[in-house]
Amino acid sequence: MLEAKDLIRATLDTGRALMRIPKDDGQPRTAPVETPVLIPIRSLGVNHRGRIAKHLLALSPQDRYLRFGYAAQDSHIERYVAGLDFDRDEIFGIYNRKLQLLAVAHLAYSIDAEFQSCAEFGVSVSAAARGRHYGTRLFERAAMHARNDGVNLMFIHALSENSTMLNIARNAGARVERDGSESEAFLYLPRPTLDSRLTELVEEQLAQTDYRIKLQAKQFWRILTNIQKMRRNLNGDSAAH
Ligand SMILES: CC(C)(COP(=O)(O)OP(=O)(O)OC[C@H]1O[C@@H](n2cnc3c(N)ncnc32)[C@H](O)[C@@H]1OP(=O)(O)O)[C@@H](O)C(=O)NCCC(=O)NCCS
Repeated sequence: MLEAKDLIRATLDTGRALMRIPKDDGQPRTAPVETPVLIPIRSLGVNHRGRIAKHLLALSPQDRYLRFGYAAQDSHIERYVAGLDFDRDEIFGIYNRKLQLLAVAHLAYSIDAEFQSCAEFGVSVSAAARGRHYGTRLFERAAMHARNDGVNLMFIHALSENSTMLNIARNAGARVERDGSESEAFLYLPRPTLDSRLTELVEEQLAQTDYRIKLQAKQFWRILTNIQKMRRNLNGDSAAH
């Protein structure tokens, strides 16, 4: 039975997690305190398929190679996007103010009954948006979601040359096993808690709100531009008479 104090503690922990403020446990800090950053990461549904394709098709040949492990052509990407299963898997995205998709992560659940508690993570960040920790945050978000879904092993298949991706996994505590030109990173996930569930719920709500605001702002600017165009046309017409 959930008590009020558990709920209050979980809510405070959720706020701390969102602001990335470490708990004060009286122990000396060995690592620098993280900057408070909230990157709105939202779960993407079927209606985002077109924008996912646009994001992936804009990747350079080298980035496509790193993301998919082979020289993915446009037709491969189109087939991959068309085959995304939004009911079974989880797709996360980061949008900018113009509603361009800057980063996409795919958490693919195992279809093999024997490995049902495993999920594979894949990610891409637009070249212009790299180094802002989007890749890291997407990894954390996917790990939290997988954990809350009862998954206990999240893994990444990456090329050994992909030091950025392998660093993200290593920094999160994953074990990296190199096998020649290819590597696997394994992250064992703890069991879900009330905190982890609440944190995910709040993060998703914030990201959905952020998206709605961006959408409304975009619609507002479109209407304003149309009004200005109409006004200019009317002025032009009256000047001609
Ligand atoms: C891999 C990728 C997703 C990383 O995205 P990102 O948002 O730029 O990554 P982050 O900003 O979170 O940086 C991750 C870490 O790698 C480090 N890093 C950045 N560039 C690096 C490089 N060239 N070599 C090693 N480490 C690097 C960063 O400093 C950061 O570490 P820190 O937290 O200790 O500072 C992005 O480069 C990408 O889309 N690549 C092409 C597709 C791909 O490789 N996908 C992964 C295969 S599944």
